Amino acid sequence: VPKGSMNRVAITGSNLMKVHREEKVKKKKEIEQEIRRRRAVDDPSSNNTDDRKDLSYQRQQLVLTAWERSRMNADVKFGKRTSLPISMQRKSLPVYAMRDELIQAVRDNQFLVIVGETGSGKTTQITQYLNEVGFGNRGIIGCTQPRRVAAVSVAQRVAGEYGCKVGEEVGYTIRFEDRTTAKTRIKYMTDGMLQTEALLDPEMSRYSAIMLDEAHERTVATDVLFALLKQAAIKRPDLKVIVTSATLDSTKFSEYFNNCPVKHIPGKTFPVDVLYSQEPQMDYLEAALECVMQIHINEGAGDILVFLTGQEEIDTCCEVLFQRVKNLGNSIGELVILPVYSALPSEVQSKIFEPTPAGSRKVVFATNIAETSITIDGIYYVVDPGFAKINTFNSRAGMEQLVISPISQAQANQRKGRAGRTGPGKCYRLYTEVAFREEMLPNTVPEIQRQNLSHTILLLKAMGINDLLHFDFMDPPPKNLLLRALEELFNLEALGDDGYLTKLGLRMSQFPTEPTLSRALLRSVTNNCSEEITTIISMLSVQGVFYRPKDKQQDADNKKVRFHHPYGDHLTLLNVYNRWQLAHCTEEFCTSNYLHYRQLRRARDVKNQLHTIFKKLRLPIVSCHGDPDIIRKTLVSGFFMNASKRDSQVGYKTISGGTTVTIHPSSSLYGKEYDYVIYHSLLLTTREYMSQVTAIDPNWLVEAAPHFYKIADDQSESRKKAKITPLHNKFSKDQNSWKLSSIRASREKV
Ligand code: CDP
Ligand code: MG
Repeated sequence: VPKGSMNRVAITGSNLMKVHREEKVKKKKEIEQEIRRRRAVDDPSSNNTDDRKDLSYQRQQLVLTAWERSRMNADVKFGKRTSLPISMQRKSLPVYAMRDELIQAVRDNQFLVIVGETGSGKTTQITQYLNEVGFGNRGIIGCTQPRRVAAVSVAQRVAGEYGCKVGEEVGYTIRFEDRTTAKTRIKYMTDGMLQTEALLDPEMSRYSAIMLDEAHERTVATDVLFALLKQAAIKRPDLKVIVTSATLDSTKFSEYFNNCPVKHIPGKTFPVDVLYSQEPQMDYLEAALECVMQIHINEGAGDILVFLTGQEEIDTCCEVLFQRVKNLGNSIGELVILPVYSALPSEVQSKIFEPTPAGSRKVVFATNIAETSITIDGIYYVVDPGFAKINTFNSRAGMEQLVISPISQAQANQRKGRAGRTGPGKCYRLYTEVAFREEMLPNTVPEIQRQNLSHTILLLKAMGINDLLHFDFMDPPPKNLLLRALEELFNLEALGDDGYLTKLGLRMSQFPTEPTLSRALLRSVTNNCSEEITTIISMLSVQGVFYRPKDKQQDADNKKVRFHHPYGDHLTLLNVYNRWQLAHCTEEFCTSNYLHYRQLRRARDVKNQLHTIFKKLRLPIVSCHGDPDIIRKTLVSGFFMNASKRDSQVGYKTISGGTTVTIHPSSSLYGKEYDYVIYHSLLLTTREYMSQVTAIDPNWLVEAAPHFYKIADDQSESRKKAKITPLHNKFSKDQNSWKLSSIRASREKV
């Protein structure tokens, strides 16, 4: 070891510990303050309402800037990609040793389950093996992914290995983006897309083989595809169905698919040491950041992977860590900080796969996407706070919410395994061993048992599957979830009193959007405002378009206000899009107005896709020239169930559930006083926020859904003011149908 470098390490260590200690004391004070603040916020007797409003808003704002910054600060020098030639790389993967055995097993069986560690080559290689032996000549080799990002990044990788451009022999299809051509033989897609395809082609006649990848994730679409492909296989003896999973719960899959064979790919994994936290952590973000610093300072070479729950957390941590590292200057080795989550543009995402430059360390902050869908080489350390954001149906509020929840033991072990792919690793669990053993569920609950199923059920009904209680689900959804979804579809008039799809329902099923949006889209045609509604829905489908850099907040706010429409967010989004278009869709326009250029571009793509669907369905694109009443009425036709009435005591209350809700501070209606509003979604943070809110005339509710609302003849109520109440006994008339009467039962329960 050269003398100089020894010296540098010695000095570095002591300097650093001092700085680190000072910083720790400072940080501790900040945390204590924050805890006091949060307590005040949680305390209902506290008058600190401004704080309550601010807390989550500030978080959100911080994030927007963080994202911008992490982009600007990505002045990282990347080395060349691994220099091994591609053919060698492919042969070095564990799955290669089983190539012939797997091909033979696919030839001999209609169903096959393949289990293998993440990174063993299942997703990128098996499709290519099948193509190499001719399956690609008989039809497309399809491979589903639960996540959009994974579908795109894997298709890019495989196209590279194959030696073609994405969209040629290897392509992908995700919602609102189709990168396949007549040439395509290997097609990656989200499971949701294949589910939609099944509607038009239940026998999957274009495919010779379909691989349901990441089956252990048990997304709703994958679960539904299990059943659909099992059916399709009966009519298509030549169709091959391969189910791949990273976990060992293969017996269940095999039993479901008529006891089909299971192939295990032996992984080359190394032991991973697990270090538990001594005591429960109050703030897992701070604990994670400290842990990363400790590893960076004290541990040997190797990259770090930190699991967080979402984009906000990831962006915040990237920014905070970047500042801390910057403050320490040259006293520590270079730390390359990278975020990974689904909404990240693919150019940035591909950076995480690039090898770390010599002498520096990489730390990747990722959502659970890095548990299995994405493999990052060179990870020796995993930091696991033990949480994930999951989409859950909240039966109390009667709606779906993203909630940060503890992960399962299976997930924790999967996370741990990510540290042992390149050599012996370490996994830092930021929770106690007791919590792991006693508080975590052994396995994650499948999505189909906790999510809103209205879109799925609409599709199944459209395929003629009416008897959902006897549908061949691997794990059937709980009855009350099914009934909820049926009820929503009744309310949207997609299902008739008999439980069968209506004409409207059939048309709604042809859109890839949630039923509420599909209804608004269809209504926009009769209301002559499809141009405006497709724009608004495209804008709703992308993540926030506004950003607010910390040092230019005032300017950003001033610019944002110029787009505000007095009636609220939907029309504000329309303004943003239209003015961007008037400015020829330039990046400059976005920069000077604090808008995310990428998100607007994505919205434009989504809009084009929607127009393509309109064309296919022979629906006209017509404009009402921005008439705010027509547009709002049309929105109400889809979102009448998401309506709230102002309440002088608590802000707002949802009309049908009576839940207390508040307008999100980022809304253009924040601080305005309209009596009735509709909202796009609810966000649960410190309180229940309505996000994307628009003021409406309550009479429109009754007009749009006379089966759902009536004008109450309540004497105590001022005569001038109509009181709108939800109608709850519409379906009780029909006692013959089990569906209708049990819906009523579930309603009373909730
Ligand atoms: O599906 P499975 O987890 O078994 O592995 P895979 O996704 O086929 O990945 C096999 C290898 O390909 C990984 O170890 C990565 O080194 C590489 N890969 C990559 O470099 N870029 C991607 N987008 C996907 C995979
Ligand atoms: Mg995979």
